[in-house]
Amino acid sequence: MIKLMRAQSTGLRGTMTVPGDKSISHRALMFGAIAQGVTEIENFLVSDDVLHTMAVFRELGVTIDQHGKHVRVIGRGSEHFTQPQKALDMGNSGTSTRLLMGLLSRQPFNIHIVGDESLSRRPMKRVLTPLALMGADIRLSENDTLPGVIYANSQVTGITYEMPVASAQVKSAILLAGIQAEGVTTIIEKIPSRDHTERMLRQFGGTITVKDGRVSVTKHQHLTGQHVIVPSDISSAAFFIVAGLITPNSKLTIKKVGINKTRDGVLQLLKRMGANIVMSNINVNGEPFADITIEAQQLKGIDITEKDIPSSVDELPIIALAATQAQGDTTITGAGELRVKETDRIATVISELTKLGANIEALEDGMIIHGGTPLHVTNESALLTSHGDHRIGMMNAIAALITTGGDVVLTGEDAISVSYPGFLENLSRVMI
Ligand code: S3P
Repeated sequence: MIKLMRAQSTGLRGTMTVPGDKSISHRALMFGAIAQGVTEIENFLVSDDVLHTMAVFRELGVTIDQHGKHVRVIGRGSEHFTQPQKALDMGNSGTSTRLLMGLLSRQPFNIHIVGDESLSRRPMKRVLTPLALMGADIRLSENDTLPGVIYANSQVTGITYEMPVASAQVKSAILLAGIQAEGVTTIIEKIPSRDHTERMLRQFGGTITVKDGRVSVTKHQHLTGQHVIVPSDISSAAFFIVAGLITPNSKLTIKKVGINKTRDGVLQLLKRMGANIVMSNINVNGEPFADITIEAQQLKGIDITEKDIPSSVDELPIIALAATQAQGDTTITGAGELRVKETDRIATVISELTKLGANIEALEDGMIIHGGTPLHVTNESALLTSHGDHRIGMMNAIAALITTGGDVVLTGEDAISVSYPGFLENLSRVMI
C-alpha cells in the first residue's frame, strides 16, 4: 500500500523517457525465436508481461541473453523448439497467450499453458475458433479459458477469416500460424488493429500483403535475425501526456514515443478534445517515433465511437480521467472490449474515479463521463485499488496528482510492473 503523490503548484516539468513498447518487445522475441540467426533487440521492455514471453522461449530451448534493455536471441527456426519440461506460464499476459497459441499450433509435442487468475478469466475462444479452422488442436478449460493444452499437430492449413472482433492479438495469432500453414491465410479486418506483427514480419524478410483491409501470408517465409529498435511505449507515455495536460502549470516532453498510426488513437482523441500536442524529431524509419511535448490546458468533451477504439483501446482508462476534467460530457461507445481486458475496465475505471468525486455512467459498451468534476477526498483519505490491473493502478496515480482534500492511498500497486516498472519513480522525477 502506498500514499500517492499530489502535484505541487508548479505542476509537472521536464524531459523524460518511458520504457520500450510492450507489443513490439513481445513480437521481437517471437520473431527472433522463429528466425534463423541472431536478433539484437534494443530498448527492450523489461516488464513482467514480456519476461513471461522470454521465459517461455527459454523453456522451448531458445538461447536468449538479456543485459538490461539489450536482448540477444539466437534463433534456429520454430522446427527446433524442444519440448517444455513444465507448463508454460503466461502470467498476466494476454498477448503472450494468444500470439503463442498461433505460433505453437504446429509442434510435434503437447504444450501445457497456464496463466494467473485474471488471465484465466479472459476469453480465448476468439483465438481457438480460427486456429481450429486451420487444423490446430488446442483444448482449454470450461468456457474456453486457461489452463489448457496445445496438442501435438503436424499440419495447419490456410483460411480466409473475417474478424468478428477488432483484435491485433487474434490477427497476430492467425498470422503466426499462417506462416506455417499450407496455402494462403487471409484475415479481413473491418477496422484496422495495430500492425506491429505485419511490420516485423517484413523486417525479418518475410512476405505479407496488406490491401483494402485484407492481410495475407503464406508458408515458406525465410526469416533471418534482425536488429530491432523498440520505440518507447505510447501506452505508457499516455499517462504522462494526460498528466501534463490536466495538472495546472505543467510542461512535459516525452522522448522517442512510438507514433504508429494504428496505435496513436490517444493523440488523435486528445487533439479532438482540444489538446495542443507538439511533435518534434519525428523519425519514420521502421516503427515511427517522435518527441511529444504538452502543456497544461483546458480540454473539452467529445464523442468516442467504435472506429476510434482499436487504436486507443489500452488508453481509454486514462482518456476517461482526462474527460473528467474536460468541459462538457465525453461519451465512449463501441468499446465492449474494455470489459475483457486485465479487468473489466468500464467497471474498474468507474469504481476508482468515482471514489474521488468523478461522475461517470456505465454503458454496456462504454461510458458517459460528465466533465468539469474537480477530484476531491472529503474524508481523511480515499483508498484506491489497481484491482490487479497495471493501467488502472497508473490511472489512479495520475488522478491523485490533481485530487484535493484528504490523502489518496493505493493498494495493488505491484501490478504496475506488468508494463511499466519504475512508473512511480519516473512520476516523482517530473514533480518539482
Ligand atoms: C495487443 C493488442 C491489444 C491490446 C494489448 C496488446 C497486442 O489487445 O489491448 O494490450 O500486442 O497485440 P487486442 O488486440 O485483443 O484488443
